[in-house]
Amino acid sequence: MPFTTLITGASSGLGAEMARQFAALGHDLALTARRTDRLDAVKAEIAAAHPGVRVETYALDVTDDEAVAAVFARAKGDFGHLDRVVVNAGLGKGAPYGKGSHYANRQTIETNVLGVAVQTEEAMAIFREQTAGHLVLIASITALRGMPKSMTTYGASKAFVAGLGEGIRSEMMGKPELDIDVSVLYPGYIRSEMNEKVEQKTKFMVDTVPGVRSMVEAIEARKAKAYVPAKPWLPLGKAMEHLPLSVVRRLLF
Ligand SMILES: NC(=O)c1ccc[n+]([C@@H]2O[C@H](COP(=O)([O-])OP(=O)(O)OC[C@H]3O[C@@H](n4cnc5c(N)ncnc54)[C@H](OP(=O)(O)O)[C@@H]3O)[C@@H](O)[C@H]2O)c1
Repeated sequence: MPFTTLITGASSGLGAEMARQFAALGHDLALTARRTDRLDAVKAEIAAAHPGVRVETYALDVTDDEAVAAVFARAKGDFGHLDRVVVNAGLGKGAPYGKGSHYANRQTIETNVLGVAVQTEEAMAIFREQTAGHLVLIASITALRGMPKSMTTYGASKAFVAGLGEGIRSEMMGKPELDIDVSVLYPGYIRSEMNEKVEQKTKFMVDTVPGVRSMVEAIEARKAKAYVPAKPWLPLGKAMEHLPLSVVRRLLF
């Protein structure tokens, strides 16, 4: 049976490029997002480049709990099984606290915290039933430390994602009867629609294709935790873990 991967947020940026690169490895794909025209374009591109790969697309807003449950179940039914779920859909909206833009922070929390929680719930339910699977959570290097200004909520939401993944991995260590792996990726800045919109200037930007290549390599290796791409983000990430906050805030912006 072909290896089947479900990717949320596959309509642009890292999700769309992961779909292209997993297709090149011969994986069947269930792709979800709200912009179905963009999903159809990714599907058509993959069909032309890799005609043997099966791609199904599903309209999904990850802030709708019932829709997440229904779409994940439909994808599992369509393919018969899901080997891997990449919880990738994310939002980078945000505003400094106390300046009257709570709505922006709220939207990011709804997508990156509540949306990630329900995607993880449904993925883990499928994996427990199959007694196997690979849960991949896309956190961010901004999860490692407190981020200033418009990045504060985003970084805090990604710290939730990272903690969620490590917690489930800890639980799975005590369950040898379940062959379930959990990977948490901490991408640095990789070119996508999201960081075109980020207000704060970012340093160390990596292009989409090489950036996603290192994400795909870490996922295929089923790494528990990966700062990607390693150049320059492994040393930067390690430095961020230990440097004083006053240095970290100048390092990234
Ligand atoms: N690029 C970076 O430098 C970077 C670094 C660290 C982590 N990340 C993370 O990588 C992931 C992908 O981001 P990206 O950089 O590729 O940004 P992007 O190009 O803006 O893509 C975001 C994706 O998430 C989907 N999405 C957003 N809100 C959604 C919702 N409510 N329901 C369903 N889908 C939703 C979007 O699809 P629709 O709008 O079509 O629904 C889109 O496909 C995010 O989790 C992001 O936080 C990115």
